[in-house]
Amino acid sequence: MAKLIDGKAFAEGLRVRIGAAVAGLKSAHRLTPGLAVVLVGEDPASKVYVANKAKQTVEVGMNSWEHKLPAETSEADLLALVTKLNNDPSVHGILVQMPVPKHIDSAKVLNTIDPAKDVDGFHVVNVGRLSTGQEALVACTPTGCVMLAKHQLGDLTGLNAVVIGRSNIVGKPVAQLLLAENCTVTIAHSKSKDLPAIVRGADLVIAAVGRPEMVKGDWIKPGACVIDVGINRIERDGKGKLVGDCDFASCEKVAGSITPVPGGVGPMTIACLLYNTVRAACAIKGVTTPEM
Ligand code: GUN
Repeated sequence: MAKLIDGKAFAEGLRVRIGAAVAGLKSAHRLTPGLAVVLVGEDPASKVYVANKAKQTVEVGMNSWEHKLPAETSEADLLALVTKLNNDPSVHGILVQMPVPKHIDSAKVLNTIDPAKDVDGFHVVNVGRLSTGQEALVACTPTGCVMLAKHQLGDLTGLNAVVIGRSNIVGKPVAQLLLAENCTVTIAHSKSKDLPAIVRGADLVIAAVGRPEMVKGDWIKPGACVIDVGINRIERDGKGKLVGDCDFASCEKVAGSITPVPGGVGPMTIACLLYNTVRAACAIKGVTTPEM
């Protein structure tokens, strides 16, 4: 049976180290990192995410601001708020929760955020920096995936990594991070020909395709490390249940290690957001980023 990779415990440990780093920055540099989160509209899942982000930001000792705007907010008004936050020296990180309502151009909003404050790592400047090997703020979920993979496997050099999914939020940036870790990286997706055969070549599988339980145990190379990014709500036996993109029951029989859903990658995302906010604050202030 595969070893379970406990993302909840790893994220808790990371948050403790972030809290210590924040305390050190306050005493040594009078610097309190601050994160502003913007939510447009009433999407229930987004409301939960934003509330959790604010709670954990405060718990590690950072400043937190929540800007909740009605669904009918104009694009111009949202861009004006982003510009105001760009110009506010107490704000070091800005996150506009996605998705935004359809009448707003999300790319325009993301690219209006000051790249130095882009703790989501979604601005084209940060995406370009990551893909050219320059210092960048990197998207949170991909950062969490690679932290967990390195925690489990150590050095990733030379491993065959297969990323299933090609989204801007996870698939593409996690592939770039794995390339930077010297993996041989394949990006596959729902339209790839003979996906099971591609996945069977992987020492490390990152499943981020957004289809419940799509990856089966007989796709997995014995002993491989499986990082499951999926969070899918399904009905089973008349009850709601959260499942990943991997069929956990069959995959855990073959894999060497695997992240559970929930309790795997999920808790890492907010911890990495806090981590990015500390990094952004230090870079803006010209202070060396503490170990976390
Ligand atoms: N919606 C779902 N995931 C994310 C994320 O990582 N960042 C933002 N801004 N919105 C999201």
